[in-house]
Amino acid sequence: MADYARNRMFFASSTTLMLVVAAYMSFSLLWHEPVPMGWRIPLTILLFLVSQTITGMRVLITWRPDLPFSLVRIGGFISSSFMVLSWIVILRDALLALTFAFSLFVPQLESAEDVIFSVLLSPAAEWIMLAASIAAAGFGMARALAVPSVKRVDVPLQGLPKDLDGLTIVHLSDLHIGSTFTGAWLEEVVRRTNELTPDFILITGDLADGRPERIGSLLRPITKLRARFDVVISVGNHDYYSGLRRWVETWRSWGMTVLLNEHRKYEVNGRNVVIAAVTDPCAVLFRSLDESMGAPDARKALEGAGEGLKVLMSHRPGHAEQNAAFGCHLQLSGHTHGGQFFFLFPLVSRLNGGFRSGLYRAGSMPLYVSPGTGMWGYVPMRLGVGAEITLLTLRRADPIVPQKPTYRGKIGA
Ligand SMILES: [Fe+2]
Repeated sequence: MADYARNRMFFASSTTLMLVVAAYMSFSLLWHEPVPMGWRIPLTILLFLVSQTITGMRVLITWRPDLPFSLVRIGGFISSSFMVLSWIVILRDALLALTFAFSLFVPQLESAEDVIFSVLLSPAAEWIMLAASIAAAGFGMARALAVPSVKRVDVPLQGLPKDLDGLTIVHLSDLHIGSTFTGAWLEEVVRRTNELTPDFILITGDLADGRPERIGSLLRPITKLRARFDVVISVGNHDYYSGLRRWVETWRSWGMTVLLNEHRKYEVNGRNVVIAAVTDPCAVLFRSLDESMGAPDARKALEGAGEGLKVLMSHRPGHAEQNAAFGCHLQLSGHTHGGQFFFLFPLVSRLNGGFRSGLYRAGSMPLYVSPGTGMWGYVPMRLGVGAEITLLTLRRADPIVPQKPTYRGKIGA
């Protein structure tokens, strides 16, 4: 259990953060407003309870691993609604603060300030905020739970041999089977992926939320994935939380290729193609894992790879520029879920080295960051970014010219 100490610490800090958010919201919505005293205390308790939905679901699933998915989804809907409501409340309060600040410098605006304050602080406005949060969470959840469609992306690669021009890779990431998605959802993802008849299928981590004995049968459809050369798995942080060693053994017993700081070579149209993968940085937090499952090491992963096209799978995109310096020609990553909600995009970009979703240039190589095929089920909501099954087609390009450099050398629109 010591291995999970840091994971528990993460949940302790997120639980505390949610309590702080609940305290702020109860002050802003209930104690700062003309809400009848008889309502204030029970509604404050309700807000604090709702803020702990994610923690509650985690505890419940640990205690009852066979918890019905419908119950998990209800929990996910509540946590999503809470998250949207907190964002709306913060936005409203920021607007009030700005209005107040303006009125200090421009006294003529005082009457406008009165109107804005009376409208935004009225009980009707609070009901509208609550209804908007529930509606947005419902819409975002419907988007998040749908089977993703295929997104086709051409990847320009400098100096790509003619024989490899047109090589196809289906990139899947962040399936998160077990926390919301079921085997039926995965069956459909597998069907849509196989229809693309790709050369490779690369899955960049976070496949499982739960242990093999609980959700192994739900994840088993990945064994039906078919590619011309191989289906390769690299690991993500959630795979560690669920017991990585057991998962790696399970996937390998299913005949899947799992790469942990190592590579495999393939001959494609007479050319050497190297698929390499690094582990996840959270490996260092899980002490019982042996050296072969140690910290991510791109140099080690590529050791002895020789000449050829080198594709690196790394769950997190943050170190792409350093990986390019090790001789990688293309990196595939996930982890970000595309930011999940538009109001988190700047934060998620910042936490991931400036990479959130899509095709970027990182040093000398392209980097594709998948917004996720699935997503973490305790906040199953997508607003402003969809899930995807990504079909990458490698194209000769010399040199790589970003068409519309946006954020950190993003390639294309
Ligand atoms: Fe993930």
